[in-house]
Amino acid sequence: MTYALINHVLRYGLAAGAAAVLALSAQSASAQFKGADYPTDVKNSTGAELDNLQDRIKGYNDLFKDAKFEEISPEDQVARMGAGINWGAYDPWWEGGKSSFNPNKDIARMKAAGFTTLRVPLMAFKHIVDTKGNLDPKYLDKIDTVVQAAIKNNMIVILDEHDFDTCEKDTDACAILLPNIWYDLSEHYKNAPSNVIFELLNEPHGKIDDQVWNDWLAGLVGIVRETNPKRNIVIGPVQWNSIDQLDKLKLPAADHHIIATFHYYLPMEFTHQGADWAGDALKSLRGVRWTGTPEQLAKLNGDFDKAAAWGKANNRPIFLGEYGTYGKFNDNMADRAAWTHAVSKAADGRGFARAYWYYDGDFGAYDSVKGQWVQPILDALKK
Ligand code: BGC
Repeated sequence: MTYALINHVLRYGLAAGAAAVLALSAQSASAQFKGADYPTDVKNSTGAELDNLQDRIKGYNDLFKDAKFEEISPEDQVARMGAGINWGAYDPWWEGGKSSFNPNKDIARMKAAGFTTLRVPLMAFKHIVDTKGNLDPKYLDKIDTVVQAAIKNNMIVILDEHDFDTCEKDTDACAILLPNIWYDLSEHYKNAPSNVIFELLNEPHGKIDDQVWNDWLAGLVGIVRETNPKRNIVIGPVQWNSIDQLDKLKLPAADHHIIATFHYYLPMEFTHQGADWAGDALKSLRGVRWTGTPEQLAKLNGDFDKAAAWGKANNRPIFLGEYGTYGKFNDNMADRAAWTHAVSKAADGRGFARAYWYYDGDFGAYDSVKGQWVQPILDALKK
């Protein structure tokens, strides 16, 4: 039985507003929970019930039962990760909705184009089917399909928990849901090859400040370590994995199997011009240029030097988990490609692995409507 998890539920779960947790689960799993069947108190998550959870997980499709995990150092793994790309997040494919994504075809296409790592953002919270934290087995099957396709293509696959907005809005609920997700995923993938990496939470921010985050980390890493003592885990700092917050990140000192991550979208006025989720000032911006002037390059290189120095001082290899430009209101492809190339080279030159945001859509390296790569972006991403 997992004492770390019970501790976690006790520490955070009992402090949480049960109503908020239930509201969240009810909203996302309304088909499963109605009326009297619906549990009303998170305190129901007792040790005994969590033991049942373990039995239930054993009933999941045991894809990696006979697989063998072989330890790889985080340094070697980062060296092998090379050029990566993000796909997953909000694609309706996860819910069986209308999507052009075909895991076997698209992941093979990524590999053929030169990508060796796939970061898969998972919006897993809405696939929890009860307040005890059980993930819908059908959702795990979906994740398995993606993981299998990546492994078949000899790619490294990062399972990134991406409910960062929910975590900011309802931090108490997050403190229960996140450990439960990691309990499930860790158990499910415990025998998977080392090509499968876990990323605990995308871009913690807002109420998840450095103190909260550093405090949670020990518990979350503890849960993963019960079943995956040597698997590499990706962890980044607060304020949306900001490079400026690396200094505040306190990683469990005795645990070597950790890869530090940060995201880079600077200057936001360029990469996020027109983005309606990034604040009013950026929403109405148009025509901001980035051509790689000496000042622009000096800022980029200064930022990356800082990250490299932190990595060296803290003895942690680094993965740039997201970088990209929003193209919906920026039709200057030469600028977008110049920025993408400069950031890719800044990462490569310092030995960071990297993953472009995003495979398709408005940031896309691939145009799924035309069925072809966006060549200037693809070229800029080449190793
Ligand atoms: C978010 C996306 C967003 C991207 C760039 C990601 O972490 O999940 O919604 O488009 O960052 O802002």
